[in-house]
Amino acid sequence: MKMILRATLAVVMVALVFSTYSFADAGADYKAKCAMCHGASGAGDTVMGKNMKIRDFSSADVQKQSDAELTDIITKGKGKMPSYDGKLTKDQIDGLVKWIRTLKK
Ligand code: HEC
Repeated sequence: MKMILRATLAVVMVALVFSTYSFADAGADYKAKCAMCHGASGAGDTVMGKNMKIRDFSSADVQKQSDAELTDIITKGKGKMPSYDGKLTKDQIDGLVKWIRTLKK
């Protein structure tokens, strides 16, 4: 009986952890959707990133833009940067902007 209780508790706890949107989720979204161009660390150090002259997310040029501007670029796209409107939720895009902010040097 105790075992079952403990197992149920573990499941509930795992569900709780995954139900709240967190940086961990933004990191996973980033790896799945953005890293192939922007690089695992956001430095743009990929073949695609170099070809497209993607700026390092930690650079002042990227960080000086407002949250609204970064949100806009991710939502609507810009140049070769694809639009994620309808592909990511607003919460996911907000999470990605916050994640980009964590890279500031
Ligand atoms: C197909 C490659 C590609 C993918 C995938 C991609 N990007 Fe981009 N991204 C670009 C390019 C190219 C630019 C530069 C656009 C420009 O300035 O003309 C850019 C620019 C940006 C910028 C603005 C940076 C700056 O230089 O001001 C942000 C923020 C950004 N991307 C976030 C993301 C996020 C978040 C994802 C994933 C949801 C993503 N990108 C996926 C290619 C990509």
